[in-house]
Amino acid sequence: MEPKEKEYIESLFPAVKDISDADLREKVCQLWVQMWRGSNFEKIEDLSQWEPARDIVNWTNVEHTNEVTRCAATIGRLFEEMYPIKVNLDYIIAGAILHDVDKLALFDSKTGSHIDRGEKFSHANYGAHAALAIGLPQDVAHIIGSHSANYSSTEPRTVEAVIVRQADHVIAEGRNTALDCRVNFKLEK
Ligand SMILES: [Fe+2]
Ligand SMILES: [Fe+2]
Repeated sequence: MEPKEKEYIESLFPAVKDISDADLREKVCQLWVQMWRGSNFEKIEDLSQWEPARDIVNWTNVEHTNEVTRCAATIGRLFEEMYPIKVNLDYIIAGAILHDVDKLALFDSKTGSHIDRGEKFSHANYGAHAALAIGLPQDVAHIIGSHSANYSSTEPRTVEAVIVRQADHVIAEGRNTALDCRVNFKLEK
């Protein structure tokens, strides 16, 4: 990963800098760069939140990711205040920033449809495996892999994974309701 690429990822996802573990921070940036370089998107911010519906869903995957990350980190901090538990905030932030990273690698920037890889591998699961392949912790890969009600092949098994999954859902659906831009199809997460 070039220093410029890392700066680009940090500028898109400012919460990367809130990850205290330097190696984790590095790998989060690395996975975004890898997915981007393996895609045909010119810029990461060109990807809509749900690519097949890009004409209706008018916010980008970057905006969505940042909203989910803020929401999940806030819930994580609240959990530590409310319950006698230690929540791994690094994992929550890393998992939230990466939860939809694989969309870049599964969709075509021109048509908005799945590319061949997107037909053969499913959202969430592809991201989880890519995370494991570059050496991200298993618990971060699990957050990515279990975040989607529609696509995940496993349910969340950790408190961090539960928090990211619910933050994703409340942001995806809450934004539609709050901004009154409901669309006449079921938004896939
Ligand atoms: Fe999402
Ligand atoms: Fe997703």
